[in-house]
Amino acid sequence: MCPAKEIYKVEGFDACTEIERRKDWLKNLKDDEFLKEIDSCGLPPKALAVDVGCGIGRRTALLAGHRRVGSVIGIDIHDALLKEAGEYFRVKRITNVRLMRNDAYNLDIADQTVDLVRCDSVLWTTRTPLKVLGEIKRILKPGGKFILTNHDSTGVEHLSHPPYPRAYSEFSRKFNSYLKSCGADTFVGHKLASLCLERGLKVLEAKLESSLDLGPLSPAKVRQHWSFVEEWAPQLLEKGIVQPRTLKEAKRAYGVWATRPSLSLVRLKFKVTGCRP
Ligand SMILES: C[S@@+](CC[C@H](N)C(=O)[O-])C[C@H]1O[C@@H](n2cnc3c(N)ncnc32)[C@H](O)[C@@H]1O
Repeated sequence: MCPAKEIYKVEGFDACTEIERRKDWLKNLKDDEFLKEIDSCGLPPKALAVDVGCGIGRRTALLAGHRRVGSVIGIDIHDALLKEAGEYFRVKRITNVRLMRNDAYNLDIADQTVDLVRCDSVLWTTRTPLKVLGEIKRILKPGGKFILTNHDSTGVEHLSHPPYPRAYSEFSRKFNSYLKSCGADTFVGHKLASLCLERGLKVLEAKLESSLDLGPLSPAKVRQHWSFVEEWAPQLLEKGIVQPRTLKEAKRAYGVWATRPSLSLVRLKFKVTGCRP
């Protein structure tokens, strides 16, 4: 079975692929929208913000540039990602971010000292998101704000059109359930708000954002999407979760489907804004 560790903690985690993939995903980050989200938090001047699971730091950099933010602590468990983030800040001449290698389950930050926590696309990778939310609650000042975002695969199969081809659909179900056994919940987005309530955090707003990719995906996009599967392929095959032929057919079916001129591909992202009571 999958190791008890989580997907970003397994041995052989390929930081290089992750860096390239995140650079590509984040290149269309909408600065204005991101900054508006921070505006809505009503931060005090010179606020201290923490970016939990900051990865390569593209969002951290935007956070650091907000007029109300004095300094940011970016934490992540991967040295290679932190190194990439540090290099990015150097090139962009961003000097108000401190990067720390830290585990989100046990943050090296004092109680009730932080004005804002962001945690983007991280909770799907953690086996016990409630524990991470407990840490976020602990470090926030009373009234301190948090913004959590995460994608969610729930229903995407049914909302996209034409429907997933069977070979891909069956593979995708097996893959998601294997990821779940590795502590990665690709369906966590819609649970975020209720997890916050369960942890005793106040939810100020919970939003669902959807987007549509219309028309054929470019071959580069198809490759990028499939690269995540490819990283897992050796394990999936070794553990007999799928057979080589099934994987091959799923890839082919996905390629044909994703490049259909009439494609409508749905993505769902949940965003929860709240505060420590
Ligand atoms: C999908 S990436 C998102 C990165 C970044 N927040 C962004 O939006 O680009 C998830 C990040 O969470 C980090 N991560 C996962 N589990 C973690 C943990 N327990 N403690 C700290 N960081 C963690 C990973 O190393 C990775 O950089």
